[in-house]
Order: sequence, then C-alpha cells, then structure tokens
Amino acid sequence: MPQMETIGLETDLSLFKYDNLEQLPPNYRDLDEGERTARIEAALDELGDDVLVLGHNYQRREIVEHADFIGDSYALSKRAAEADASNIVFCGVTFMAESADIITDDDQAVSLPSMEASCPMAGMAEALQVDAAWADLTAAAPDADIIPITYMNSYADLKAFCAEQGGLVCTSSNAHRAFEWALERGDKVLFLPDKHLGENTAHRIGLEGSLAEWDPWDPEGKDPEEVAKAAVICWEGYCQVHERFRTAHVERVRENYPDAEVVVHPECRHEVVEAADVVGSTSTICETVAEADPGETWAIGTEIHLAEHLARWHPDVNVVPLCGDACMDCNAMRQVDPNYLTWVLEGLVEGVPRNVVEVAPEEKELARVALDRMLEV
Ligand code: 13P
Ligand code: SF4
Repeated sequence: MPQMETIGLETDLSLFKYDNLEQLPPNYRDLDEGERTARIEAALDELGDDVLVLGHNYQRREIVEHADFIGDSYALSKRAAEADASNIVFCGVTFMAESADIITDDDQAVSLPSMEASCPMAGMAEALQVDAAWADLTAAAPDADIIPITYMNSYADLKAFCAEQGGLVCTSSNAHRAFEWALERGDKVLFLPDKHLGENTAHRIGLEGSLAEWDPWDPEGKDPEEVAKAAVICWEGYCQVHERFRTAHVERVRENYPDAEVVVHPECRHEVVEAADVVGSTSTICETVAEADPGETWAIGTEIHLAEHLARWHPDVNVVPLCGDACMDCNAMRQVDPNYLTWVLEGLVEGVPRNVVEVAPEEKELARVALDRMLEV
C-alpha cells in the first residue's frame, strides 16, 4: 500500500496532509467585502480562461458567487476532468482538490485556497488502520473476494489501495452503482470510511440483511470471522454534520409544517433517511428544491450553507433547515474564506501559484484507476 504522509506541523492540524501549503499573509486578513469582491473580479478578468474556479455546494456565499461552476463532489470532479484551464482553484476540501489533481493533466495546477480545509471523515480511515483491517478480514474469509470501495471523502493513498485491490471510488450520487459493480466482480464489499452511506446503500440494493461494521478503534470488540460473513462491511467512520440529524427533527418539521417534505443527504443515519421523502447527493438536494412548485415547503437535512443558498436561490419555495438553529456548518469547508480566494487568485496573476495540491506520482497513477472506474460506472 502506498504510504500516507501526515507531516508534523506545529499546529493541531493533524489531518493536514501537505507541507507545501501556505497560511494567509497578514495583509490579506482584514479585507472588507467591497474591496475584496472588486479584487477577486479584477483577478478573474485578468486570468480569463487560464483559471477555472470550482465551488462545492457547502462553500459560503462569498465563495460560490465567484465560482464558474457549483456542484457536488461528483459533478466537480467531472468538471475538473474536462477542464482546459491551466489553473483550477478548488473551493472545497483537501480530498476534493486531491481528486481533481489526480484526474487533470500534469500541466494543470490545482490550488486549494486554505490549507486547513481537511474533512474529518476522510481522516477516519488512515492507511495503516486499513492495511491492518484488510489483513484480518482477508485472513478471516480466505475463499471470498472482498472488493474495497472508498467514498470520495478519503485521501489519495486509500483510493490507490482500493485500485490495487480491484476496487474503486464512489460518491454519494453513485454509491449504489459502485456496489453493484463490485458485487458483479467479487463476493463482498468493504466500504470506507462512512458507515452511514454504506448502510444506506446496502438498504438501497437489498443487502441490509447482510451488513456488519468494522471498528478500527475497538480492536478487542470485533471478531474478524463474524464480520467477514457479511456481504457489506462498513468502516466505522461518519460525518458529524450529518450525524446530528435525528428522526425527532423530521417529526418536528412535519408538525410545524404539515405539508413539508424532507430531503436529506445519505451521510445521515439510516433511520433519518427512512423518515425523509427524498435522499441524495448535494446535487440531488439542489435539483429537488429547484423543481419544487412555488409555496412548497422543503426541509433540508444537510450542511447549513447549502440550506441558506437554496433559500436565496429559490425565494418562492419555503426552505427550512431540518434541525433549525442546530444545523451545523462544515468546519472544513468554512476554512476556505474569501480572503484566501483573493490571495490565491492574485498569486496566479503574479505568476505565483499558491497552495497547489500535488499527489505523489506513485499514488496518483493508482488512485486514478479507482477514480476512472467510478467515472465509468
Ligand atoms: P456530495 O458528494 O453530495 O457533494 O457530498 C460531499 C460531502 O462532503 C457531503 O458531506
Ligand atoms: Fe467532510 Fe462532513 Fe464536511 Fe462533508 S460535511 S466535507 S463529510 S465533514
């Protein structure tokens, strides 16, 4: 398995994977919104087709309003793969910028404006842990072909590992197709790192009766032979933003708004997904509200910035966050602030690319195989 490098910075950023990324200089820290917007627009005008700004649906308003394309992680990776621009500024989190670097040409540079934008869930499946689990599970089921699938929310070394073991990558919009692809080629799936997406996908394809969890933090509490009997083995990882939603929130919304419909992300707990009307990726959530009739009420079970964008983009629809004020923003996504965007774009104007994410060549080649398999399913 390719080695994962977690470098020893003198900060508490234990999930941070790159040592060439820079902090925002002090003269960019207090820009006022008017000046900043004018500077971002001037830099974008000057750069023209040399730059493509991609913005994930969870980015804040001041970021998405400058993006050439806003979308979910699958759509953004497709856009990156098709891009001609020599510079891609990826307003998202580390694993997304890494994936963009993997699928773009070597002469295209991918910048992640803030070095601190690391998804905690991606850090929940460390290479060494996965290596150990793989050894235990394959020894416990020597006659079975286990196919590893990693959610896009993982680092490049894990994607490379999945390719090496005959597996692939998926996102929330194609997890069911990735499971079907894997089960046509093998007997079992090891799904990393999000247990909820794994469980929700097992239900979607009718395998909920053969589901087990692998908890790498509880080495005593698991019996590899028992776990390896299941058709779908889910890694014990989760997203804290989505775990917050409970069925009580769905019930309360339905009491407060009797006509409300509920749309949630598949990183939510299974019982919440069951209680909702629609489940899907952030793009599905956007499309659901875009297609709503005026006056309809939709409760949104995902990161708060997306709920706020949808309320702004569709003022004729009553958009409410599923757990009201308790809805969370994603701390990782929030690190990309518009001061960073200004600094990175002005750097490109000066010919100084900043915070360029470069996946190590030996990981890149294999991780690309896993991503290409995903783009084909
Ligand atoms: P999407 O792939 O649906 O955009 O989700 C990414 C993500 O990080 C959700 O928490
Ligand atoms: Fe990671 Fe959750 Fe943030 Fe998505 S919302 S980037 S899974 S922490």
